[in-house]
Amino acid sequence: MVTIREEKLSDAVAREALLDEAYGSDRFTKTSARLREGRLPAAGLSLVAVHHGRLAGTVRLWHVTAGPGRAALLLGPLAVHPQHRNRGIGATLTRRAIFAGHHAILLVGDAAYYGRFGFTAASTGELWMPGRFQRERLH
Ligand SMILES: CC(C)(COP(=O)(O)OP(=O)(O)OC[C@H]1O[C@@H](n2cnc3c(N)ncnc32)[C@H](O)[C@@H]1OP(=O)(O)O)[C@@H](O)C(=O)NCCC(=O)NCCS
Repeated sequence: MVTIREEKLSDAVAREALLDEAYGSDRFTKTSARLREGRLPAAGLSLVAVHHGRLAGTVRLWHVTAGPGRAALLLGPLAVHPQHRNRGIGATLTRRAIFAGHHAILLVGDAAYYGRFGFTAASTGELWMPGRFQRERLH
């Protein structure tokens, strides 16, 4: 059985291994990663999926601004262990994060995946990120 809970300090090593597997070692060079650099995730908004005591998925939310004085949360990275994909864990983590987030939520990712949760590139309008980004992936 898979359970979703808040991340603990002791999950960090397994979470980083999961993210390395999912996104490769150049993941730190992405603009969204640079935005997260030096920040802590929003309190209570780091979630993990656990299967028999082992980390099967991770998602976190980060405080950002979406234009002057407009608070928002940046969702990501989301990753599910290859052995546990296509069982709805990514969707459950994403929906739990959206539900817990309460704010406007932004993310950089595949429209084909995130569209099902209501994210669209059209809704980010003129927003931009400090660095290189693909507008069609900013939702
Ligand atoms: C993307 C990811 C988090 C999805 O997790 P998951 O638990 O397997 O996802 P779910 O079970 O909720 O959903 C599976 C569905 O999403 C689809 N899907 C997975 N990744 C997708 C993508 N990048 N684009 C479009 N659809 C995708 C699957 O084909 C499957 O489709 P189906 O429901 O029609 O069979 C996981 O595959 C992962 O960690 N991938 C590596 C990182 C990555 O590629 N991220 C890209 C998104 S930005």
